[in-house]
Amino acid sequence: HCTVMAASKGKHALSFKILAECSTTKARTCKMVLPHSVVDTPVFMPVGTQGTMKGLCPEQLEDLDCRIILANTYHLGHRPGVDTLNKAGGLHKFMAWNRSLLTDSGGFQMVSLLKLAEITEEGVKFQSPHDGSEMLLTPEKSIEIQNSIGADIMMQLDDVVHSCTTGPRVEEAMHRTVRWLDRCVKANKRPDDQNIFPIVQGGLNPELRVQCAKELTKRDVPGFAIGGLSGGEEKSSFWRMVTISTDNLPKEKPRYLMGVGFAVDLVVCVALGCDMFDCVFPTRTARFGTALMPHGQLNLKNKKYARDFRAIDEACPCSTCKKYTRAYLHTVVTNEPVACSLLTVHNIAYQLRLMTFIRESIMEDKFPEFIQKFFSKLFPKGD
Ligand code: GUN
Ligand code: ZN
Repeated sequence: HCTVMAASKGKHALSFKILAECSTTKARTCKMVLPHSVVDTPVFMPVGTQGTMKGLCPEQLEDLDCRIILANTYHLGHRPGVDTLNKAGGLHKFMAWNRSLLTDSGGFQMVSLLKLAEITEEGVKFQSPHDGSEMLLTPEKSIEIQNSIGADIMMQLDDVVHSCTTGPRVEEAMHRTVRWLDRCVKANKRPDDQNIFPIVQGGLNPELRVQCAKELTKRDVPGFAIGGLSGGEEKSSFWRMVTISTDNLPKEKPRYLMGVGFAVDLVVCVALGCDMFDCVFPTRTARFGTALMPHGQLNLKNKKYARDFRAIDEACPCSTCKKYTRAYLHTVVTNEPVACSLLTVHNIAYQLRLMTFIRESIMEDKFPEFIQKFFSKLFPKGD
């Protein structure tokens, strides 16, 4: 209850306090208070697209000390749909998760999932993959669905172009994203308990990124996201765009780098000033039989683990590593749901523990030492 009060004191349903800053990089560790939970940043948010984390129940996420997860407007708007969500009293109640939720707005999912999406000033038009009917997702419609979901943080509907797109389309999408932000903010019926984050777009064009960040910063918003990246562009352009974006966003508000979740990218982008991350990678790769480790990845489908009676990672305190052997988890080779679920627990635990180590090192002003140790474990011979 006290978290609800603390969060509702400000203008936004969010408070953000910097606890410590790294003296040599742009990394910081902060306390973010949301309507449903307190979130320590830098944070990784696991993705539960359909309002469920594949193979896990909400209690297991609580046991992992996970405070915030992500869900998708596009999927939830289709099923269970707005009527059911309203009747259930929102997604928190529907899925029995009383910690924080962040919802993506739907446009990105449609453009990336459905090749047939057509974007106009009005919104994103697409053929329903379910019955072929024509549907239009406008900024107002996206916020209406997100208001029914009731997430602590809602993303604006943005005009996303593939990260390698060049030319006037990138500029058009950036300006449209700013116009759509204003429509989203106007459409929000629950500003007292639901935050909207704008999204910095602008492709790989530095001038457009700066212009977009500056334009969004003029608005009184609770935080910012950086989008349109991690779509197969060169690492050097990716880092440059993240740097330019964080350089042009206010220091005192959270910065969420969308769709980024490889351990290396998390460590680097924390150093570049990002506070929040999400990615399907750790959970998806678990279902494919891959366990994440400080030294790299372990593919448990490999026959060599069939008689390996050690834990995935003896140093990992997760419930999977405490109890189960690589040999048992090798049953993932036939897509056994139990093995998939146990691996998902481990991978989320790995990801959350990585963020805990990052936060602790920033707090002690030892983040550069952490980076060094992290990379020497991953690349032992310096290769
Ligand atoms: N997820 C990953 N990147 C993006 C983006 O640019 N926009 C949205 N809405 N979601 C994302
Ligand atoms: Zn483990």
